[in-house]
Amino acid sequence: MLALALGGFVFMTGCDASEDSDLERGRALFLQNCGTCHTLAEAGSSADVGPDLDASFAQARADGMDSDTVEGVVQKQISNPREVEEGAPNYSSIFMPADLVVGQDAEDVAAYVASVAGIPGAKPPELPPDQLFTERCGSCHALQAAGTSGTTGPDLDETLAGKNAKYIEQQIVDPNSQITQGFGPDVMPQDFESSLTPQDLQGLVDYLLENVGS
Ligand code: HEC
Ligand code: HEC
Repeated sequence: MLALALGGFVFMTGCDASEDSDLERGRALFLQNCGTCHTLAEAGSSADVGPDLDASFAQARADGMDSDTVEGVVQKQISNPREVEEGAPNYSSIFMPADLVVGQDAEDVAAYVASVAGIPGAKPPELPPDQLFTERCGSCHALQAAGTSGTTGPDLDETLAGKNAKYIEQQIVDPNSQITQGFGPDVMPQDFESSLTPQDLQGLVDYLLENVGS
């Protein structure tokens, strides 16, 4: 009872903005809205259009910045992205769009990033292949066994039926080696060979082999 009361007290007086943020939701939103441009080890994203967020915040943390401050920086960046001046060393011709996520979504994303960015040794949680598929592939691919219905890429129940492990693996690590009819090249991420561990890759291939066409 005492512990409970104390907990409530701390919650009510604490000024931590992340108190009512949902980190798991923030992670999913990050993957959908930010992972296409940014590397963040815990999210398993390895894109390099924008800065590597682990690198950005490792330095800041080493200089004494705490997670609450990181959260504020990220939130500000989301609503009001800095423009790097042309000619500056980190100038990029691709800009970060403002307000990719807003309101509670932006709070959740910022709290999530603040909880993992630049933390030494951060790496993605180990997921079983079906969850890994849902997280990394399901936004683009339909697969009945996983309950996903993305349409940016082919319906894998249809196109992978009867295909062997070697073919499936090759299409994951080198999607442009053979373009599925009706779809364009360079849409599927080209970096799964490095962004997935060998075990995760093998797990996905086995999972697909077992489940397509079901
Ligand atoms: C289209 C690509 C793109 C997307 C999508 C994107 N960003 Fe960025 N981001 C950039 C670029 C380019 C920069 C560097 C220029 C700048 O600071 O605005 C940047 C800078 C940042 C920075 C500052 C990093 C530093 O080193 O100071 C943070 C934090 C950040 N982004 C977070 C996010 C979050 C969170 C999301 C998702 C809501 C997101 N970004 C989505 C391209 C992107
Ligand atoms: C951003 C969207 C996107 C994501 C994310 C994505 N894919 Fe794809 N995928 C595509 C598109 C588009 C194609 C068809 C063009 C091509 O062949 O490259 C494709 C093709 C494939 C093929 C070949 C299918 C065939 O008919 O031969 C396989 C296998 C595949 N993807 C598996 C995966 C797996 C596994 C993941 C997650 C680790 C994944 N994809 C993530 C868009 C995506």
